[in-house]
Amino acid sequence: MSLADVLGPFPRERTWLLPALQAVQRTERWLSPESLDAVAAHLRVPKSEVWGVASHYPELRLSAPGRRLVRVCTGVACLAGGGRAILQACEQTLGVRAGHTTPDGAATLEELDCAFACASAPVVEIDHEYCGRVAAGDVETLLRAASTHHGTPATGRGGPPATLPSAGSPGARFTALKREAERRRTGARLAVGLGTCGLAVGAAATFDALGAETVRRGMPFSVVAAGCNGMCWAQPVVEVLRDGRPRLTTGPITVEAVPRLLNALAAGVAERELAAGDDVMAPQRRLLIERCGMADPYDIADALRHGAYAAFARALEDGHAAAVIEEVRAAGLTGRGGAYFQTAVKWAACRAAAGAPKFLVVNGEEGEPGIFKDRHLMEGDPHRLLEAVLIAAFAIGAARAILYIHGEAELSARRVAVALEQAQSWGLVGPRVLGSDFSLEVEIRRGAGGFVLGEETALLESLEGRRAMPRTRPPFPVEAGLYGKPTVINNVETLFAVPSIVERGGAWFAGLGGGRGTKLFGLSGHLRRPGVVEMEVGCTLRTLIEQVGGGSSTGRPITAAVVGGPSGSVVPGRQFDEPLIPRGAVNPGTGGVVALDDSLPVRTAVRALLAFNTRESCGKCTPCREGTARLLAMLDAPLDQGRVKELAEAIQLASLCGLGQAAPLAVLSALDEFPREFGVS
Ligand SMILES: Cc1cc2nc3c(=O)[nH]c(=O)nc-3n(C[C@H](O)[C@H](O)[C@H](O)COP(=O)(O)O)c2cc1C
Ligand code: SF4
Repeated sequence: MSLADVLGPFPRERTWLLPALQAVQRTERWLSPESLDAVAAHLRVPKSEVWGVASHYPELRLSAPGRRLVRVCTGVACLAGGGRAILQACEQTLGVRAGHTTPDGAATLEELDCAFACASAPVVEIDHEYCGRVAAGDVETLLRAASTHHGTPATGRGGPPATLPSAGSPGARFTALKREAERRRTGARLAVGLGTCGLAVGAAATFDALGAETVRRGMPFSVVAAGCNGMCWAQPVVEVLRDGRPRLTTGPITVEAVPRLLNALAAGVAERELAAGDDVMAPQRRLLIERCGMADPYDIADALRHGAYAAFARALEDGHAAAVIEEVRAAGLTGRGGAYFQTAVKWAACRAAAGAPKFLVVNGEEGEPGIFKDRHLMEGDPHRLLEAVLIAAFAIGAARAILYIHGEAELSARRVAVALEQAQSWGLVGPRVLGSDFSLEVEIRRGAGGFVLGEETALLESLEGRRAMPRTRPPFPVEAGLYGKPTVINNVETLFAVPSIVERGGAWFAGLGGGRGTKLFGLSGHLRRPGVVEMEVGCTLRTLIEQVGGGSSTGRPITAAVVGGPSGSVVPGRQFDEPLIPRGAVNPGTGGVVALDDSLPVRTAVRALLAFNTRESCGKCTPCREGTARLLAMLDAPLDQGRVKELAEAIQLASLCGLGQAAPLAVLSALDEFPREFGVS
């Protein structure tokens, strides 16, 4: 495909700069000087600015990579699992240092800050496919394999109804859609956990083997794709779903275990002998992730049978947008992107603001190492996200919604795109939804890397075709956001709570977690059962680590946990019984929990987190740009605690955005709790 063919479809507006660069890179594998010139000419953006943007985003490549791209994660969870030894094994096998390409151009080896598959750590990514639970001894075989491509499961379900209901109220039309979904019910199913974590450990092969073997044996099951139910540690997981019987969770089901599972099902073996993970599920309050692992993300009819879009249809039937905001207010829902700001306050301000069109932007950037829950939600239940987007847009009066998904969260983006296409063809997204006056245009955009890109105003800058650098506030986005128009930006997890709040009422949600609802946690590190779990807010790290996470995987005691990634803190064992409460003694942050035994020095973990923040500083303000680098240098020398604290305080006080404000937190908490690790008594 020529450059002109690639660029032709893009309107000649600056907002398309990042998508155009991404399209060129998808075709040519990198951005050559000629292609940058072509983008500049097509979009009528100065060449210097195109270069400025292209050189800003870490995922955009200004030099050609090797024919094979090998990336090894050395984020904290992977470090804890031996990521450094795996990187060395890759360097030895390929004969190049990380950051270089082999002389024959066969492969490029890179170090990854985080692969966002922490529950499958340690992770190696080969040509954008994840391999999980890798040991250094596996590296040679992995790199010699012709391909690690996992294959794509059959889709094809969820096609549009022959005719869409064309008369009646929104509620009546929705009932007709539900009838159509029921008509497509297929009976007993085996749902395979094809999330990122499952695919990284062979779930695609399990899916194929189950499909072939059930057909060969004439068993009355259809084999379908599902996301992960949160039990990443037990992947490949297979859920046995039979009408009128409780869901039966089994795992790990490798290809070799497939005949055993089918024999057991055919023989009617007692379910308790097959079931896995009951003790992990029991302490949870599974509300947002209730359909993950069970519903087929490629089939809107399945989502409808599981209750998707019902809350939205009811809100539309009632027609009171302000009432939706009041329910969200009564629920006390706060932002799960980490700041825990009142969602209803933002929604009401945007609704009241002057200016049109209004925008809803979904923040699915999730670029903070150690957390992977938003990907989990998008992969597992994309229709819940779309339903939440419809409700939120209806409530705030938005005519356009943009789903902004991390550039490397390929599976999330693919599943959300399929779901969107299906929702459009079923008349649930688009003009005059369900025959009402409400119309919504939904678009998917992809990020291009960088932690700061998830900061809401940096994200708006990127949508406008500029570098991801936070804006000063005021004005706040609800008054002047995307293109200066009123804009609400919400995190994926925040939005996932909305359908239940509308369905069951704000008071019901406020009855959970001491008025704060539920929270997702991504568990990783030295745990027997890493995964994604949903708990009522206020649970303790002890519950997460010992009860849900299964305790130490190494036999050594868990002495600390990194909570909230590079913006979070290092929590010592003495605080494991503190409730995790926003702005409490231990803040859950975005929900990443990396448990560490005493084999990984806290100083090493803290250094990795600060080094990440230093690299990720966008450079707009001096205290963050210069200060984090100097703080890092101080960690590498004999430590002067007084000077460290003084500099940390200056960075926190004088930085414009949350990256700089939170960058020193891990250092400060570790210094207080583990002074001896830093040679301080
Ligand atoms: C450096 C930095 C990175 C951030 N990354 C994310 C992110 O990846 N996803 C997210 O939803 N919010 C992120 N945020 C928070 C957003 O700025 C914003 O508060 C959030 O998207 C608002 O949605 P909520 O109210 O639903 O949480 C980040 C903030 C900072 C300072
Ligand atoms: S605090 Fe750091 S990341 Fe944030 S705007 Fe300033 S330099 Fe950029």
